[in-house]
Amino acid sequence: MGINMGSCLAAFRDRCFSFWNLLVSAWGSPPSDTVTYPETGYKVLDMYPSAPFCTVALARHEKSGELVVLKRFHAIERDSFARELVMLRRAQGHDNVNCLRASWPSSHLLVLDYVEGQCLIDVMLNREPPYVLPMKMVTGITRQLVSVLCHLKARDVVHNDISPENIIVRPDRGVVLIDFGLSMRSAERKADKSFIGKPCFIAPEVTLRKTIEEPFSVDMYSLGSVLCYASLLATPYEAPFYSGSLYHHKGKDIIKIFAEQSGLKLPGDFLTLLADMLDPNPTTRIACEAITL
Ligand SMILES: Nc1ncnc2c1ncn2[C@@H]1O[C@H](COP(=O)(O)OP(=O)(O)OP(=O)(O)O)[C@@H](O)[C@H]1O
Ligand SMILES: [Mg+2]
Repeated sequence: MGINMGSCLAAFRDRCFSFWNLLVSAWGSPPSDTVTYPETGYKVLDMYPSAPFCTVALARHEKSGELVVLKRFHAIERDSFARELVMLRRAQGHDNVNCLRASWPSSHLLVLDYVEGQCLIDVMLNREPPYVLPMKMVTGITRQLVSVLCHLKARDVVHNDISPENIIVRPDRGVVLIDFGLSMRSAERKADKSFIGKPCFIAPEVTLRKTIEEPFSVDMYSLGSVLCYASLLATPYEAPFYSGSLYHHKGKDIIKIFAEQSGLKLPGDFLTLLADMLDPNPTTRIACEAITL
């Protein structure tokens, strides 16, 4: 069996995301035309799949007609609400970061700019096999998200959940990073050894529960995994049972192996950048300021 190039996109998605989808469907979505948030003046139009501890909805302001996304946490999750609010506030001020419009602490509700477009994973799913994105698009995404990582570093925010579900691609191909639900400040990330993030995009030091010496490096690895996935349909970490990292021991050579197996002709400098982002060693992994595009 080939390295995870052999697994098809649908299987990949099932493995990574079906757990959440199962829970969401078991829980059920309210009928879209009956839900309102009277205290806010927003009316819900549609629900997005989301984690079990919150609901995420597309909504329209009844007076102004503006579209927004409402992320509402269940009462028991008020700490999660408070965390996301604090980290989102810190992260504001970059065009490629989801804009926070307002918050309603009494309802544990975040009001976010609606980003028109599709999650990166859906953009890929809507393409013909082999699903990978054209290099020009990958380069654009890389440039924007590296800039976001530099911004987040300056604001002392570690996102912790960079994955194709949390990146929205707009029709003009601008991308927006969403979902700061797992974000932490760097000192907190250093002290935290929990396994957080999306399987397949998690840095090895997180998977292996090592002490996180380089907190921003965690996001760099996840971004590298996302770009590797978008361009080669592969990631170094295949996690069917959350069992550990399969290919990290191959080090930076893994990119060469993926590229050969894919048969795709990608520019050498891009492959070198991917290898530097996916360096299993967080202390030698490339830092966002060192990337020139
Ligand atoms: N601002 C937005 N504009 C458009 N769609 C959004 C926006 N925010 C969220 N979504 C959609 O809703 C989905 C779920 O939102 P989000 O990622 O914030 O919650 P979550 O993944 O359930 O949270 P968590 O990662 O904390 O479990 C996203 O994958 C995306 O499809
Ligand atoms: Mg998410």
